[in-house]
Amino acid sequence: MTDWVQSLQTLFEKVDYMNNTTLIAFASKGGVTEEYASIIADVLREKFEVYVDVVKIKRDPLDVSVYHNVIVGSGIRMFRMHSEVRIFLENTNFSNKRVAIFLSSVEPEEDVIKKYLKPILEKNPHLKPIATNVFGGRMKIFGKTAADMREPDKVKTWAEELGRKFIN
Ligand SMILES: Cc1cc2nc3c(=O)[nH]c(=O)nc-3n(C[C@H](O)[C@H](O)[C@H](O)COP(=O)(O)O)c2cc1C
Repeated sequence: MTDWVQSLQTLFEKVDYMNNTTLIAFASKGGVTEEYASIIADVLREKFEVYVDVVKIKRDPLDVSVYHNVIVGSGIRMFRMHSEVRIFLENTNFSNKRVAIFLSSVEPEEDVIKKYLKPILEKNPHLKPIATNVFGGRMKIFGKTAADMREPDKVKTWAEELGRKFIN
């Protein structure tokens, strides 16, 4: 391959890379959602060579304007989504972005979508996720694990599905 063809190819690869900037934004009180965010980031970076930033959602508004893809994660506690995530999902303009949402919970998947996610989707007309999923959570009480339903392999498989969607 001549030098200029190689340079052009590298440039195209760089443009491709920057066309897929991905934000993983999450809140986690017990560490499970954080663990899942990190698994998803690893898969997207290593298998799909996607640029990924991982940030914790706080009370202040989060600027998503530079990202093409936004993956949002939250745990569920006391029958509520972590409030900073709920506020972020309700108030952010996600138009023209590919959004995916995951929740970690010890409740059945259909209940989680219906109870915690549907009401938010109804409130924000700009929020039309391309994918949603629920992964098993962990219940720790006074430092003791009462239930551990974590499922990292399901998270990896979902991250691979997202990766394929992002690069197409
Ligand atoms: C005090 C307390 C309350 C909880 N309440 C719920 C609940 O209502 N629904 C649920 O699915 N999980 C509940 N959990 C379990 C986990 O918080 C949840 O499944 C998830 O893994 C939390 O994600 P995080 O570790 O990222 O915060 C509770 C755990 C604790 C310690």
